[in-house]
Amino acid sequence: MSIRVLPDVLISQIAAGEVVERPAAALKEILENSLDAGATEIQIDLEQGGIKRIRVADNGSGIARDELALALTRHATSKIASLADLEQVASLGFRGEALASIAAIARVQLTSRSAGGEHAWTVQAEGGRLSDPAPAARATGTTLDIQDLFFNTPARRKFLKTEATEYAHCAEAVRRMALANPQVAFTLTHNGRVQLRYNAEPAHARVRQVLGETFEHNTIAVDAAGGALRVSGWVIRPGAATASRDSQHVFVNGRYVRDKLIVHALKEAYRDVLHHQLNPAYCLFISLPPDGVDVNVHPAKTEIRFRDSRGVHQFLFHAVERLLSAPVEAGATAAPEGQAPAVFRPVHAAPQQTPMPLQVAEAMAFYAPPGEGGAGQEPREWRSPAAQPLPASGQGDVPPLGYALAQLHGVYVLAQNAQGLVLVDMHAAHERVVYEKLKAALDARAVPAQTLLIPVALTVDARDVAEISPHLEQLAEIGFELSITSPTSVAVRSVPWLLRNADPVELTRAVLAEVAEFGVARLLAERRNELLATLACHGAVRANRHLTLPEMNALLREMEATERAGQCNHGRPTWFQIGLRELDGMFMRGR
Ligand SMILES: Nc1ncnc2c1ncn2[C@@H]1O[C@H](COP(=O)(O)OP(=O)(O)OP(=O)(O)O)[C@@H](O)[C@H]1O
Ligand SMILES: [Mg+2]
Repeated sequence: MSIRVLPDVLISQIAAGEVVERPAAALKEILENSLDAGATEIQIDLEQGGIKRIRVADNGSGIARDELALALTRHATSKIASLADLEQVASLGFRGEALASIAAIARVQLTSRSAGGEHAWTVQAEGGRLSDPAPAARATGTTLDIQDLFFNTPARRKFLKTEATEYAHCAEAVRRMALANPQVAFTLTHNGRVQLRYNAEPAHARVRQVLGETFEHNTIAVDAAGGALRVSGWVIRPGAATASRDSQHVFVNGRYVRDKLIVHALKEAYRDVLHHQLNPAYCLFISLPPDGVDVNVHPAKTEIRFRDSRGVHQFLFHAVERLLSAPVEAGATAAPEGQAPAVFRPVHAAPQQTPMPLQVAEAMAFYAPPGEGGAGQEPREWRSPAAQPLPASGQGDVPPLGYALAQLHGVYVLAQNAQGLVLVDMHAAHERVVYEKLKAALDARAVPAQTLLIPVALTVDARDVAEISPHLEQLAEIGFELSITSPTSVAVRSVPWLLRNADPVELTRAVLAEVAEFGVARLLAERRNELLATLACHGAVRANRHLTLPEMNALLREMEATERAGQCNHGRPTWFQIGLRELDGMFMRGR
């Protein structure tokens, strides 16, 4: 076949495929135009999932009669005029392509009245042909009526999914736009029925409308600025995270984006507080000067490139990490009040969360059988001067987590604070305390060791001995003083002081197991926190250990002083607040 220039219509259809691969993509483009035109009210009517019809009416600035044809012409735009404009672009559109692409693959009627126009004008486009403008009636604004999408591109039409699926994608596009534009009212109908209606409202109210009350309850507000960068929005409480990645909404300068860098920064920020199988949910609005981000990367404009990607990554990471590591504050609750009491509705009970068997297995590993874990051993670090007796009610300042009342089934500490009842998983909480202390000690390069009165000998694999022998000094730096007594045995002379109550043999075996898997160098560098988490688990108080009230109070005070005390190292919650109001509600007690 000889080389030929493609007919214009075909070129348009090919290009359109990039932008309009399904009804929701066309809808997104049209909504962006309405927003760029300053609309405050947008009415969307769909038929048959948008395949039959997409009609969007807005009250934006409108298009003058003489520009109607241009609006449907490829590479004609009112939004930029030069390359310099493109680098500064603050509008959602700038390619001058969307309407032309849609007109190439559907029957389009564009009706608009510009501000100050005497009446509206309408044009029709079909298969690349455009009618002359004819007078029409409507208030200032624009109506775009698209019928029979892909009627002339049957191949693409075949790729469409069911009407219900296409509708779901359209509704998602509307919800996204609505999230980023709370000042705009949106109404969506499908086959004549109202499906969504959002009135203009404050941002937090819109988030509740769109993402639901559960999202609102389970998230913490973020608002941070650094230089020209700002992030605001909501991030999930670690204890409420699920395995799903569906609830990760990110907007950059009002534009919905999918950006690996941002996803990565957030995942990292949660690393210390979330089980690796869970994913953080969030709705974040990032803003920066337009020239700090290139939006002209992909036709659909959902991909972007930051000029200073490292800076953006660090900024987001720190903003969220700081928020999550805030120590327990007065009045703060690990679980939101006003929900059914956590004891009756465990955070992990939601359907799409971590598979149960894993949790059970881990929980079993944590809770040693009765008698194990050193009954009779005194956890001296809890005999701190901070341990206080329970004051008579109404006297003095009650600390955030209150004062211990009792221990329940050897697993939970019950305490009373100003809000009501506090329930603490003592192992999980202590584990976090020990972990954070170990990290701090290692960061300060001062890990005190507890020398064992009698060194403990253990038989180990010859390969493990070979692996550790060149690294004994480094292991000593983290508190483990080992000596090699034969090609297959080592003697433990000291363990980290923070872990002195744990079984030294178990501890050493845990270290050796990680050494065998990752090697000493990697273990002490990139896997350091994982190692410390394992050690903390061994060093933390086991279930069925009887604790005295002063010990329990000391634990509560330590939690208050510990970063990220709301979750154990595996992201499970460590404590719950049950407010008096909830308790009253349970007993139908009017106050
Ligand atoms: N709802 C609307 N209200 C007012 N003007 C509109 C509306 N829709 C389109 N226009 C005008 O038509 C022009 C072409 O729109 P189109 O979506 O094709 O291109 P664009 O928005 O400029 O760029 P992009 O292809 O990136 O979306 C716009 O630049 C704008 O001037
Ligand atoms: Mg556009």
